[in-house]
This record gives sequence, C-alpha cells and structure tokens, in this order.
Amino acid sequence: MTGIIAPSLLSCDFARLAEEIAAIEAAGADWLHLDVMDGRFVPNITFGMPIVAAMKKVSTKPLDTHLMIVEPDRYIEGFAEAGSDWITVHAEACPHLHRSLQAIRSTGAKAGVSLNPGTSLNAIEEVLGDCDQVLIMTVNPGFGGQNFIESGLKKIARLRRMIDELPSHQRPLISVDGGVKPGTVEKVVAAGADVLVAGSAVFKAPDYSQAIAELRSAFP
Ligand code: DX5
Ligand code: ZN
Repeated sequence: MTGIIAPSLLSCDFARLAEEIAAIEAAGADWLHLDVMDGRFVPNITFGMPIVAAMKKVSTKPLDTHLMIVEPDRYIEGFAEAGSDWITVHAEACPHLHRSLQAIRSTGAKAGVSLNPGTSLNAIEEVLGDCDQVLIMTVNPGFGGQNFIESGLKKIARLRRMIDELPSHQRPLISVDGGVKPGTVEKVVAAGADVLVAGSAVFKAPDYSQAIAELRSAFP
C-alpha cells in the first residue's frame, strides 16, 4: 500500500468541521490525520477524544490519530474507543515503547510511532517490526504551516533502507508530517515516503481536489 494522502485537520475551519470532512473526503483524501496536542509534549493544545468521536460519526475514511501528548499510554484505549483506526505515539514520550505499541495493537487499532526532528532513528530500531507506521516529523511538532526541515530527507531515506531489510509482512509504512507541499513533496516521496500528511498545503489551498491531486502526483 503506497501513495496515501492524509490531510491534517489542524488547518481546517473547526467551526465547519463536518463540512470540512465531507469536502476533504470528496476531494480524494485517503485518511484523515488528527493532531492531538496537550500543551505539555508540545506548546499547543488542540482537541481530545470527544472531538475524535464526533469526527468518526461524519467520516468514512480511516482516522489517523497522532498523539503529541505526554504519557500517551493513559489514553490509548480512549482514542481507540473514540474511533481511531491508527494511533501514533511519540518515541520521546514512551519509556516503554514496545509496550505502548502492543497496547495500541491490543485495541485493534494500527500502531504508529513518531520521531521529532531531533530524535535519531536509533530510538525505534528495535521496534520497527512491531509497528504499522513510522511517522517522521519534518517540523518540530506543535503548529501547522512551519518550514520543512531538510535534514529529514536523509532520515527518511535511511529509514526506507532499514524497513526494506525487514521481512515483507513486518514492514511499517513511512509517513512524513510537516511542511509537505509542492516543492518538498517530490523530495519526500523520492526519499521513500508512503504516506503524506499535509495540513496547510491542502486546507489553505483554494481547491482541495487540486491540492490533493498535486501531492499525489509526486508518487510514481
Ligand atoms: C504538526 C502536526 C502536523 C501539522 C502539519 O505538529 O503534527 O500534522 O498539521 O501541518 P503543515 O502540513 O501545515 O506543516
Ligand atoms: Zn501530525
């Protein structure tokens, strides 16, 4: 499975949430990327489980929940019950990362692990075969609309090589999140990304379909 476009609702108009979800799905979104922030792991605060549950009611696509929170283990079950199909935790927030990934899978959700730009791939090397998605941050998490950090490209390419060495049934998807837009997306895909997360590049564009098609065209 490659070539997945996951618009981040962080940049949508929250006053028109249901309409925005309908519009982005009609425009060709494959997944909905939901950025949960707690004001502790990252400086910003967004939304929690009740909003995810509300989104679930009006969406038909997989919900890809990105937890930028401390002690995510406390909320895994809650976000799964709210309807998350994918739950991603940050390696930096998980002293027992293997256990956290198992906990996600035990809810029936797919398990993801994310890395900040300053965190080495070494932090996830031992759990690569135990997760379904690795989310590489190419901005420091917390806000939409930031500039892409170029050093992320080498990291994505190295991760691609590490994953390709695993048996095929154990290979997680590579997602890239932060500053993905025309101009960076080509490099991100060339480095080996499977999933593109994009907030401002989609929701600040005049035409969602065109913005999604443009991102998708980066895939071979
Ligand atoms: C950043 C979030 C991203 C964010 C990306 O902390 O994890 O998902 O929405 O926004 P853009 O695509 O605008 O960089
Ligand atoms: Zn995100």
